[in-house]
Amino acid sequence: MNDAALKPIGLFDSGMGGLTVFKALAQRLPEEDLLYLGDTARLPYGTKGRDTIIRYTLKAAQHLVDLGVKMLVVACNTATSAALPTLREHFAPLPVMGVVEPGARAATTTSRNGHIVVIATEATITGGAYQQAITRIRPDAIVTGRACTLFVPLAEEGWMDGPLVEGIARRYLGDIFNTPGQTMPHAPAPDTLLLGCTHFPLLQGALQNVVGAKVHIVDSAATTAKDIAQELQRVHLLRHNDTPGKYTFLTTDNTARFAKTGSIFLGRHLNENEVSLVDL
Ligand code: DGL
Repeated sequence: MNDAALKPIGLFDSGMGGLTVFKALAQRLPEEDLLYLGDTARLPYGTKGRDTIIRYTLKAAQHLVDLGVKMLVVACNTATSAALPTLREHFAPLPVMGVVEPGARAATTTSRNGHIVVIATEATITGGAYQQAITRIRPDAIVTGRACTLFVPLAEEGWMDGPLVEGIARRYLGDIFNTPGQTMPHAPAPDTLLLGCTHFPLLQGALQNVVGAKVHIVDSAATTAKDIAQELQRVHLLRHNDTPGKYTFLTTDNTARFAKTGSIFLGRHLNENEVSLVDL
């Protein structure tokens, strides 16, 4: 194993949502060191303009690169949609992985009738990255995109279920799933809901209640983790070790809040002293 393989994998999100990808990656590659940066001071990215998202993402990525990572994972759909090509060019030859392509692949393999609904932040939907990625993989797919801005603060607040959350979800999605014949008369009713934002898996139970049990809900976390493992293998950077990987959590604001909400995303207790404050 070469020395570079011992370096950590750097993951970045605008907040805590990327911890859903972190969790999937820790399960898939338990021997890897993971370094996570959540730019909570600037959250949300999803309502910002493209140039601002690219600027913020480059800063956060530079911080991880300066700390010496062997791979950069953009565990944020909004940042992936806006900044992936720029990051790849800027940090070449460092491998840079995003979450949009794996999410699109997961949805296209899951959907039977080809009608996929993507829910994401405003910037991700407006940018069209998912719509393009899905139709590139499956040209006959019908993609309906819907921005669900309020899901991000709900997830960060740890409000994941109950009548309030379902009411908001119904307001965003009711027309698509409850009266599909009226909204899209020539399309089959959607059979797949793609969570195009790393914050949204927390709301999966409430979303399933709203869209109905027959609709498959998919996200990009597991597929992204699989792609990362394959890419590390391809570039000979997989860490082969018997000891479990070390985890480092960095945030740009409020370590106590990161630990509290991060525990929900990670599904295990995160202590505040495991989280360090950084300034970008
Ligand atoms: N986690 C981000 C994503 O996957 C969204 C949160 C934000 O708006 O910053 O798109």
